[in-house]
Amino acid sequence: MSGPLVVLVGPMGVGKSTVGQLLAERLGVGYRDTDEDIVAEQGRSIAEIFVDEGEEAFRAMEKQAVRRALGAHPGVLALGGGSVLDADTRALLAGQRVLYLSMDVEEAVKRTGLNAARPLLAVNPRKQWRELMEARRHLYEGVATAVVATDGRTAEEVAQVALDAL
Ligand code: S3P
Repeated sequence: MSGPLVVLVGPMGVGKSTVGQLLAERLGVGYRDTDEDIVAEQGRSIAEIFVDEGEEAFRAMEKQAVRRALGAHPGVLALGGGSVLDADTRALLAGQRVLYLSMDVEEAVKRTGLNAARPLLAVNPRKQWRELMEARRHLYEGVATAVVATDGRTAEEVAQVALDAL
């Protein structure tokens, strides 16, 4: 299979970075994160990109970042939570091994709270989480080859379940 060994998708705050790094360590492979790629390339935070240029511009950057990362053969690749909104990105994921790290709305509110660094949750996090999950759950499920529920699990536990699912 070309591309990464495994791609992680799921909502922001679900633990893609932490679990992804644990998985990479255990598998003895590299770790890459498209959010980090965008920040490095742009020299500014994701929040700043949203404020300066808006979500649409960010999504265009994200689409390119995902395409590049998928072609670069990182071992474990974590995608930003909104990357599955793009139909071309979803099509690119079709031949990949994709783990969807899931959590329910209450877990999401508890984990992320009011977080200004995450521009999509700046106001009324519970309502926004509900809407985000409703809009995206089927997209995550659609690209996933396996789903790992994270509710009530530590990152180590999630990584172990993910390893077993590979
Ligand atoms: C977003 C998720 C974030 C980041 C941006 C938008 C989203 O990534 O790309 O804030 O739309 O869900 P993480 O899932 O890595 O936090």
